[in-house]
Amino acid sequence: MLLTDRLAPAFGAVAGGPVDPVVRRSQHADFQSDAALALARRLGRPPREIAAAVRDRADLADLCSSVQVSGPGFLNLTLSDAALAEMVGGLAGDPRLGVPAVARPETVVVDYSAPNVAKEMHVGHLRSTVIGDAVARLLEWSGHRVVRANHLGDWGTPFGMLIEHLVDLGEAEAADDLSMGDLDAFYAAARAKFDADAGFRDRARLRVVALQGGDPDTRRLWRLLVDLSEHYFLTVYDLLDVTLTDRDFRGESSYNDLLPEVVADLDRLGLLRDSAGAACVFPPGSVGRDGEPLPLIVRKSDGGYGYPATDLAAIRQRTGELGATRLVYVVGLPQRRHFEMVFAAAGQAGWLTAPARAEHVGFGSILGADGRMLRSRAGGTVKLQALLDEAVARATELTRTRNPALGAAEAAEVGRAVGIGAIKYADLANDRHRDHVLDWERMLSLDGNTAPYLQYAYSRIRSIFRKAGVTVRPDAPVPLAEPAERALALELLGFAPVVAEVERGLEFHQLAGYLFRLATTFNAFYERCPVLRAEQPVRDGRLLLADLTARVLRQGLELLGIRTPERM
Ligand code: ARG
Repeated sequence: MLLTDRLAPAFGAVAGGPVDPVVRRSQHADFQSDAALALARRLGRPPREIAAAVRDRADLADLCSSVQVSGPGFLNLTLSDAALAEMVGGLAGDPRLGVPAVARPETVVVDYSAPNVAKEMHVGHLRSTVIGDAVARLLEWSGHRVVRANHLGDWGTPFGMLIEHLVDLGEAEAADDLSMGDLDAFYAAARAKFDADAGFRDRARLRVVALQGGDPDTRRLWRLLVDLSEHYFLTVYDLLDVTLTDRDFRGESSYNDLLPEVVADLDRLGLLRDSAGAACVFPPGSVGRDGEPLPLIVRKSDGGYGYPATDLAAIRQRTGELGATRLVYVVGLPQRRHFEMVFAAAGQAGWLTAPARAEHVGFGSILGADGRMLRSRAGGTVKLQALLDEAVARATELTRTRNPALGAAEAAEVGRAVGIGAIKYADLANDRHRDHVLDWERMLSLDGNTAPYLQYAYSRIRSIFRKAGVTVRPDAPVPLAEPAERALALELLGFAPVVAEVERGLEFHQLAGYLFRLATTFNAFYERCPVLRAEQPVRDGRLLLADLTARVLRQGLELLGIRTPERM
């Protein structure tokens, strides 16, 4: 935004190098910049002194009625009404609503969803899918080249027993079971045989050897299992309305051929050490509770490769072949240590060096209403499809009772948008590091920080235009006489800085919190400032503010993967 553009050169001059001014909405002024604090640490100078130097240098006279150093070293910026009106007016003709495309687009790999073949997707995969999809959408909209990588768990020793179980059942029967999405039952039945029957165990072991050796019939059966599971996952993605497609599957198996090279490279670099027959890397900085360095096992003592080796091969391929400079891993917090070690080892091997970097976007669990891990009534894992179906059914029911005038087809469509939106929003609106409780009442409520609240605010604005049969005049003068108008105008300018902030830190609750504030500010404005009954030119100006609010809500929710029905 304009304030950022004006502050950046001043910060740059004071710092002697580029600095992001980190402009955000402020409670004490219109906007504030916090960058002096971090810069002070870097330069070893008092932050207030830096803030004052920036204030003296920055070219803000035509924009701000006041620029003040406050607190530990914030710069508080108050816009003049003329500048505010001008800036908001500028949003009207801008399809990107003030959000510039990034100056230096990167190739970013977003590794997300990643369920496991022949296993039910659990709520951890749901969170990964929802958060990862928001990451992909936002980075793409910001102008980066995004590669979606669905690191499907499609390899490993369990495939011996899974294939043998498939052979026992007969292919047709197995295909039937799996296409019903009953993945866990299939897996459990294979496991039960494996545990109880020594003969089956032997067959399963031989099968693993045949699979690794590339035996054509075994490969075909394996592929069948993978295809059936992928088909099921795609139905879940479709229901969930995420952007993942069949072209995004990059299963663990796709790195198999690279694994020997990865190990050879590590060996040549002198990074491998033997630990009880296994080939390991000991990345710096990873120590166990006893203070001993922790091994990252790249080749097991039986010669097989495991999860870490595959992730190393994937990094090598993503930075090397794909030329990615930002690698994002949307995976639950329990895997934090794994990624720390893998990233460190990849750095040592030279596969992850600046400007390329990797980040683990971790998240907590989804808990049931009782505050415990989410379980089905029978005590097993919750079937994701059933959870989503329930969300849609509940939302459709609520839509029908709230608005009986909607036809059945439209009510179903609105129900889908609201139900799925509620699930996604409840996930994204919370600090992702924390566990969050799945509470149907709360997430489907029209009050509070929920998807339905935002969707309703959007549809209400749309209905103003529809009912009055008016369109927006993009060049209407922005009215600022009423405090509620000024507050809304400022909130609209806050979209660009919040998108920039989320682009950096991938903390989506900041975007959700912003959209919630925007909707709340709009509702306060709408209560105090009549729109259609106002005199011209205020009427057109207020319509402009209303239209901009709707556009920001729609764009913001779209970045979160949430639809905005025109009526609800
Ligand atoms: N399939 C794994 C799981 O279910 C997640 C994989 C995450 N991605 C990765 N590159 N390791 O836990």
